Parts: sequence; structure tokens; C-alpha cells
Amino acid sequence: MIKLDTVISLAKRRGFIFQSSEIYGGLNGCWDYGPLGVELLKNIKESWWKSMTYRDDIEGIDASILMHPRTWEASGHVGQFTDPMIDNLTSKGRYRADNLIEEYIDKLKKKNHTDKAAELEIRLQSVKELSDYYNIIIDFQIPDPVSGSTEWTEVRNFNLMFKTFIGPLEESSSMVYLRPETAQGIYVNFKNVMESSRQKVPFGIAQIGKAFRNEINTKNFLFRTREFEQMEMQYFVKPGSEFEWYDYWKNQRMEWYLNMGINKENLKFKDHDKLAHYANKAVDIEYQFPFGWGEIEGIHSRTDFDLKAHTQFSGKKLEYVDTVNQERYTPYVIETSGGVSRGLMAFLCDAYNEEDVTDDNGKSEKRVVIKFKHSVAPMTAAVLPLVNKDGMPELAEKIYKNLQRNFKVTYDTSGAIGRRYRRNDEIGTPFCITIDGQSVEDGTVTVRERDTMAQDRISNDKIDNYIFDKIR
Ligand code: GLY
Repeated sequence: MIKLDTVISLAKRRGFIFQSSEIYGGLNGCWDYGPLGVELLKNIKESWWKSMTYRDDIEGIDASILMHPRTWEASGHVGQFTDPMIDNLTSKGRYRADNLIEEYIDKLKKKNHTDKAAELEIRLQSVKELSDYYNIIIDFQIPDPVSGSTEWTEVRNFNLMFKTFIGPLEESSSMVYLRPETAQGIYVNFKNVMESSRQKVPFGIAQIGKAFRNEINTKNFLFRTREFEQMEMQYFVKPGSEFEWYDYWKNQRMEWYLNMGINKENLKFKDHDKLAHYANKAVDIEYQFPFGWGEIEGIHSRTDFDLKAHTQFSGKKLEYVDTVNQERYTPYVIETSGGVSRGLMAFLCDAYNEEDVTDDNGKSEKRVVIKFKHSVAPMTAAVLPLVNKDGMPELAEKIYKNLQRNFKVTYDTSGAIGRRYRRNDEIGTPFCITIDGQSVEDGTVTVRERDTMAQDRISNDKIDNYIFDKIR
């Protein structure tokens, strides 16, 4: 299995992902997408958007990140969107109490103290309130992982929402939150969308957008970050039909990842043991990352929790009137909530391959190749004049400019052709178009496909259609 460090180093070297504010030493839990990263991100989002909204029953929106603060009281985020946090009195280190215990369990297991680890696991599973975490940490004398100190404060709840202020006064009356999920922007627009688009239940609303969580522990590259992007869809259904739709969306979403080229053995469903306050059923789609299985998308049956809460807090009825059956009800919701960056990281890890191939001189060499699905690859084609003379660059530039009207393409003249193929394999470019001596004579070019390395010779005026056919 590929190492996460290998992906991180390739992502940086080739311009997929950089650390945020790197020249200032970086900002923890934040990442920037470089020239190739942004193309990949855009292609993933476009594919999701098309699959979700290019159908009769789903509309798209783009709600603002800042929302009325009452939104988050209604949603339960003000009261319940918290992590249990503990401070070490000696080191001043701050930890998530559950993570501290989990990491201690891992340590015990590594040292073969399996009985003690099992005892701790049982205690952790039976936690009901904050003081239970504290009692475990004290009973088992769990030390600060850095300093070894066992002097702890009580466990407190730490709200994960970022706060900021609207207008010139930094006081509580002007405080707003950066949204911790895009879902609420959909619920508050339920009526607006239904009425303006004349949708009837069942129907859905989809949105892609940034969300923010002040995570205590960020980790594993793009997996847990403080600023992230979600692709969420809320599907409004008649109460009683929710589990049918839940199964439908669960399967649809898994199909999407498979369709995007992710290997089946690296994907699985994981039912939630503990349900969020708004859910009556929930499952994660997990991907097998180099660091273990991790959630890339959650499918929740959210009942009428959100629409009812917003009705109560806003005083505006968020109901559906079924004129055919003379019924009026608050719809139930099935939510599909995917993390864009987590998805991107899964696509990157899954498509990464190292192969032994034979170079131009018959010697065996390692080829790094990212086998992105063609339509997702950040660069669709590379145009490569075999040598930089004899009429080849002139024809190559003409072909390059033509292709640029439809595709993201690169032009590369530097180094031996084999090196140029490798450079493009490493970023996942599906097609390398080489202009050689014959091209100047008869207008044909070779098109090399990334995965098979097989070459077709085609007329240069057919390249667009050739690529369109393949990426479709
Ligand atoms: N909207 C669900 C979530 O953000 O996890």
C-alpha cells in the first residue's frame, strides 16, 4: 500500500496541494490547491454536480457561508456541536478526551497489555457524560503523551463553530458563525426552492460549498482540516418512505465512487453505532486510506428534525401541501454529505501506481502513474513535438492552440520524449500527442494512452473527437 507521505510529496512537487501560508510557516489544518489540484477539484465537483442535479427531481443552490445565528440554535449546533476537551495542568497541552483515551489504548495494544486495553475500551464505550471521560483518564492514570504528566483539568465541551462579527462592533449582538455544514443553507431555502422551481415531494436540493470547524486535532493531510468543502444533497420525502429513499441514496452514492474509478475493495459501508441528534439511521461510505479506513461521505436519514426546528425557531411553516391527496406534512429528509477534499484524497491515493516498465534504451525503470478516470484528470492531454525543429514545433503549437479550446492541455518540449511521457504519467495526463517527422509530411500524430501506453496514429484534425469519445 502506498504511503501517505509519498502522496503528500508528489502533491506538493507537482502542484496539487500546498500547505496554507507556507512562507510564514504554514497554518495548521489548512491547505491550498495548486494549479493541478484546482483542476482535479473542479472536475470532481463538476462530476458530482452533473450526477446530482442533471435530473428532474433535484435543484441546485449556492447559499451564503454566513447565516442568521438563530439557524445554528435551531439546528442544534450551538448546544450540541461540541468535542469533549481536557487540558493538562503541567504541559498546558489541550486534547480531545476521547482521542487521548483511544491513543492510550493503541499504545497499550502495541505493548501487548491487551487486558488493560480491553478494559479501557469497555469503559470508553459506556461513556454517557463528560465526567465519565475524566474518571477514565484519572482511574487509568493516562499521561499527557508529550510531557507524561497526569495532572488534568475537568473535561469541558468545546464548540467547534468559528465565530466572527458582522459590522463594526465586536459584541455578542453582532456575532455570527462560519457555517459548520452546508445543509442548513438548504433547509432554510426549502420553501423558496420548492415554490420557485415547482418541485413536488419527493425532490432534492444540492449544494457544494465551504464549511468550517475549529477541530482540536487536525490530521492526516486533507482528512481532518479546519476549512473544507462539502458536496451535500438533501432529499425531501414523505414520512414513512424515508428508509426506502435512504437505501436508494446509499446505493447511488456508492455507485458514484465506483463510477469515478475507485477500486471496489477500497470502499465499504459503515453503519453508525451512535446516531447524531438529528438522525434515525446513518451510514458512512469509507475509503481505505494509507492510514486506515476513513469516512468520505455520510448518508443520514434526518427525519423532520431540521424543518421542524426551523419552523419552530423562525415561526415560518416549512411544510409540503400534497394537493392530489389533500395532505399536509413536514417532509422527512435523506441527506448525502460528501467531503470534496476527502474524496480528492481518495481519488489521488487510489489512482496512484508504481510500475516497472522498459525505457527507450531497453532498460527497466520505475514509472509512477496516476490512473485517474480520464474525465477527472487535471490535465487532459500533453502536446509534445518529438524534436524542437524541422517544422514539428510549428505544427505542434497549432494543434495545442486548437485543443485548448476544449480541453486543459499542456505543451512540453524539454527533454527526451520518454522523460516527457513520465512527467505526464506522474500527474495522470490520459493522452500524450506526439508530433514527429511523419506528422510534418502527412498531418498524422501519435496519441499515447496513459494506462496501456499503446499508441494510435490519427490525423491531427481528428484529435478532438478522438479525446471526446474516450473521455465520454
Ligand atoms: N451535514 C452533515 C455533516 O456535515 O456532517
